Formats: sequence, C-alpha cells, structure tokens
Amino acid sequence: METKRIAAERAVEYIEDGMVVGLGTGSTAYWAIQKIGARVKEGLRIKALATSIESEAMAEALGIPIIPFAELSGPIDLTIDGADEVDSISNLIKGGGGALLREKIVAKASDRMIVIVDQSKLVTHLGDFPLPVEVVPFGNELTVRHLIGLGCEPVIRMKGEERFLTDNGNYIADCAFGRIMEPGRLEMQLNGIPGVVDNGLFVQMASKVIVGYDNGEVGEL
Ligand code: A5P
Repeated sequence: METKRIAAERAVEYIEDGMVVGLGTGSTAYWAIQKIGARVKEGLRIKALATSIESEAMAEALGIPIIPFAELSGPIDLTIDGADEVDSISNLIKGGGGALLREKIVAKASDRMIVIVDQSKLVTHLGDFPLPVEVVPFGNELTVRHLIGLGCEPVIRMKGEERFLTDNGNYIADCAFGRIMEPGRLEMQLNGIPGVVDNGLFVQMASKVIVGYDNGEVGEL
C-alpha cells in the first residue's frame, strides 16, 4: 500500500526528540509505527501511547517505549492516526477498525493530531462510509432503536459468526446515515443516547491531514 506508506512516513518526519507520541490504529497507522520503530532504532528518543492493543503490541515489538496514561503529566505532543473519511474541512469518520473510542481519548489528549490517508479517503461530505458507533452490550437492542430514531440504518458488526468486540469489550453498530450535513450536531446527539459509548465522528480534531496520492505525491491539508 504505497499511498498509505508515503503519507505515514511524511507524518513521522514531524516527530522530534523528547516528544510523547500517540500511535494510531489501522493499515495506514501501521506504516507510521513501522517508521517510528526504525527511527527509534536510529536513536530517536520518544515515549508513546497506543490507541489499540494491536498497535501497542506492534510498537513494543519494534522497541518503541510505551508509557501508561498514569505517567502522562501533560498533553500528548503529537498523535498520528488514519481515517476512513476526511471531508473538505478535515472532519473525520474513524472506527473502521473498531478502535474509535481509544483513538478519540488519545486524540483529545493531544496537542496535535496528524491524520494520514490515501486519496480515496477524501470526500466532500461525510457519510458514504457507515459511521461506527461503539455501544455497550447491555440493552444494545434498545440502543439500536434509538440509533434508528436518528435516521440511520445500524448493523451490529460481526467477526465471522460472532459479534465483533472492541478492545473495551463493546459492540460496534455501523450506522449508514447517508450524507452527514452537521457532524458536530450528530456527534452530540449520538453520545446523548444511553448505551452509546462514543462514535466515529472526529469534528475539528485534525491539525493536519497528510494525503498519499496514486501518482506518488504527498499533499498536506
Ligand atoms: C481504526 O478503528 C480506524 O479508526 C482507523 O484509523 C481507520 O479505520 C483507518 O484505517 P486504515 O488506515 O486501515 O484505512
């Protein structure tokens, strides 16, 4: 995946010695973690927090020092993460890999969030990608009814025959809303439903978007 790799590697250039870095999740963040690992081997001194069990395991295998949240005395300097959709004002849909809650916790705690995508993720309006919503298993049937009431078609995500479980032991409802005109409003409405833990709308959270294009160019928005 060359387009993902070139975007990820450009983002890693923004990491400086001494930083606390948030590590994203997914196939684009994979390349960022690989590159960070290579830089750590060359002497880069950073501390990192990961947005998923998978990313944390990868980082540890590469020798990237991981710290617990309890050791965080200030903001995370920079988080690098992927996205499923990026609109014209850099609002995002995330959670295609199911890590949206940890990703949002880490992004909110970060001074800067650099989003890394290939050009296929760029859209005018969010919503073609069904919005992932993390819901607690208890009473999820009722939670899904509330979601339908907001005008979407939710589908509980499966992994084979079983329900997909997030790192937090919750379900994901993938909610097809169609075009989302007011992402900030929808984000708040969703999080007002009892049983919804969080949703994949990241509104005004990206400081920069780095795009890998099919022709090999890298753009920064
Ligand atoms: C993980 O839950 C997601 O938010 C990912 O960041 C997002 O789905 C992008 O993933 P890819 O880089 O694999 O497309």
